[in-house]
Amino acid sequence: MAESAEIILDGKSYTLPVIEGTEHEKAFDIGKLRDQTGYVTLDSGYKNTGATKSAITFLDGEEGILRYRGYPIEQLAEKSTFLEVAYLLIYGALPNKAELDEFSHQITKHTLVHEDVRKIFDGFPSAAHPMGILSSLICSLTAFYPKSIDPDQSAEEINLNILRLMAKISTIAAWTYKNSQGHPLNYPRNDLDYTSNFLYMMFSFPTEKYEINPVVVSALNKLLILHADHEQNCSTSTVRLVGSANASLYGSVSAGINALWGPLHGGANQEVVEMLEAIQRDGGDTSKFIAKAKDKNDPFRLMGFGHRVYKNFDPRAKIIKKAADEVLAALGINDPLLTIAQELEQAALTDPYFVERKLYPNVDFYSGIIYKAIGIPTEMFTVMFALGRLPGWIAQWKEMRENKEPIGRPRQIYTGELERDYVSIENR
Ligand code: CMC
Repeated sequence: MAESAEIILDGKSYTLPVIEGTEHEKAFDIGKLRDQTGYVTLDSGYKNTGATKSAITFLDGEEGILRYRGYPIEQLAEKSTFLEVAYLLIYGALPNKAELDEFSHQITKHTLVHEDVRKIFDGFPSAAHPMGILSSLICSLTAFYPKSIDPDQSAEEINLNILRLMAKISTIAAWTYKNSQGHPLNYPRNDLDYTSNFLYMMFSFPTEKYEINPVVVSALNKLLILHADHEQNCSTSTVRLVGSANASLYGSVSAGINALWGPLHGGANQEVVEMLEAIQRDGGDTSKFIAKAKDKNDPFRLMGFGHRVYKNFDPRAKIIKKAADEVLAALGINDPLLTIAQELEQAALTDPYFVERKLYPNVDFYSGIIYKAIGIPTEMFTVMFALGRLPGWIAQWKEMRENKEPIGRPRQIYTGELERDYVSIENR
């Protein structure tokens, strides 16, 4: 590996230090470039910019590898629970039994939300998108826990807010759905595990007991694990950037939720099912939609295909595809959308347009089909993604704080007008 990089600007040579990660990822450090040379680097969308050093998640898009704290995603999805993975991401190591019991106990203890949070729901129109409500209510926690906005709060206080956030998000997410339906809200049940409790709060009625199905619990557990972190993606970078201004954990995560909501990011899972339904309504001709996706004059994109970093199969999509087959078989569901999805996938995987651009199904392509099968309504899909991504956001926010990273503040290349004099309105 090169020990340093040389850059020649205006005939003068400058040496830049080279950095290597534990997985031999290489970078050169341009932190002092502007001071030394007057130049900045330009990288729209940060496609080739390392914004931080991080020890949380390793991702190799070319090889289709994803590991949390060194553990392969395939093993975690198969053998672990969501809370165990959350602990691993946030605190850096797999918990022993006592540590996991204590973590689960603390989270269970904090699942109730302040009764005044219920009143906030009344202010939203019933048709409001749940992601907007979720981000608002997560930010509103700053009002209930004012010490959380103090940048100098102790490590214990930070940890308490982490536990509160992990606990309360599932109650708030389930209530968001219940409220949108005009249904009575269910209070959390401390006798249930994290995933079962969420399903209970979503689907139980005072008039009808909800039977918790282990197949559904296991599928949801897997989905939450697969979404738990994905290194410096759009929402995580947002959480780190907002947090770098010493903004609170709740405020930073609320910003991340808004970033995730975008249809190019987490919002894609909702868009995938809506796209599959649109294809079904249109008669089910997948080739027509493949042609639309390839037509540069048509804004249509094949939702659930392509990824900024995976230029090979998304390893999460492989696991989810298998899980979707298992869940549908176990629940005895024959969903015609799955057939359309399979046809679309086959067509895209053999079409030169998609092959040349390395566009493979991503995590969102099959997750919506599982959510649909287990009864999660379409507009809640991205909320489910947020529920899964929360430990990753927390871990990244915590790491950024503990490493005392400076406030994020990119540069720009200005392309606007040169200085000019103000013209009064009657002379314009
Ligand atoms: N359908 C058709 N063409 C596509 C698609 C698609 N889904 N995705 C990329 N392309 C084409 C794009 O038009 C471009 O073609 P050309 O080189 O001829 O101009 C080429 O592939 C490269 O695309 P890009 O937009 O430059 O790639 P990007 O890295 O900036 O964008 C992406 C990545 C995920 C935003 C994009 O692939 C996309 O819009 N996919 C659909 C939305 C989606 O499924 N998002 C979920 C991502 S996974 C969940 C998460 O982690 O957030």
